Amino acid sequence: MNYNIAIDGPAGAGKTTIAERIAAELDYIYVDTGAMYRAMGYFFIQNQVKSLEEVSDLESFCSQADITISYQNGEQQVLLNGENVTSYLRSEEVSRMSSIVSSHSAVRCKLVELQKKLAETENVVMNGRDIGTCVLPNADLKIYLTASSKTRAQRRYKELTEKGVPCNIEEIEKEIIARDERDMNRELSPLRQADDAIRIDCSDLSIEEVTARILQLFQEVRK
Ligand code: DC
Repeated sequence: MNYNIAIDGPAGAGKTTIAERIAAELDYIYVDTGAMYRAMGYFFIQNQVKSLEEVSDLESFCSQADITISYQNGEQQVLLNGENVTSYLRSEEVSRMSSIVSSHSAVRCKLVELQKKLAETENVVMNGRDIGTCVLPNADLKIYLTASSKTRAQRRYKELTEKGVPCNIEEIEKEIIARDERDMNRELSPLRQADDAIRIDCSDLSIEEVTARILQLFQEVRK
């Protein structure tokens, strides 16, 4: 029998970092589903497509994007048509485009199928927007990780500034709020807390504190 942990929440709440830590502690694999949607967003950008309306047959367009994941030294890598695109996925342009393309059914069906398959055979910590509600409705533990938009913008600002990327904190917060809007109000699998998920507001918690809390909750589940 394999265990599944689902972590959902809004953009920039720290889901990927936390999922990675928990997976490392438990020796599970982590699946950052946002990176898969980002790869699809990147595919659109690569093809100079700026909005869904520009493509007449979205299904056939999306079918040209073969997205798979693999692991290198425990870190998830995303392959788009055989090319490792992981390092291109964190830009603001890709963030925005991934949120737009993820509202389409052709994109979601394709990626959800791949995600479900991964969790069938492996112990996984999977993070995203619809993991507890749609991808893994029977997950052993469901977490809804959130933080205020201000905190999330501050963290993103720090991350970008440390990398030497020029940015504006007000702009970042505006973009985060716009992304929340899109992700929470779309028709298909909108972001929402599953009824049986445990909510953790990490605005005032460190990564270590959140990780410890989730590991403790999981220990209780496994008992
Ligand atoms: O978690 P992230 O910021 O890397 O996700 C990028 C976008 O992908 C996000 O704005 C919405 C979409 N997404 C989704 O619709 N469903 C998921 N399970 C994960 C991400």
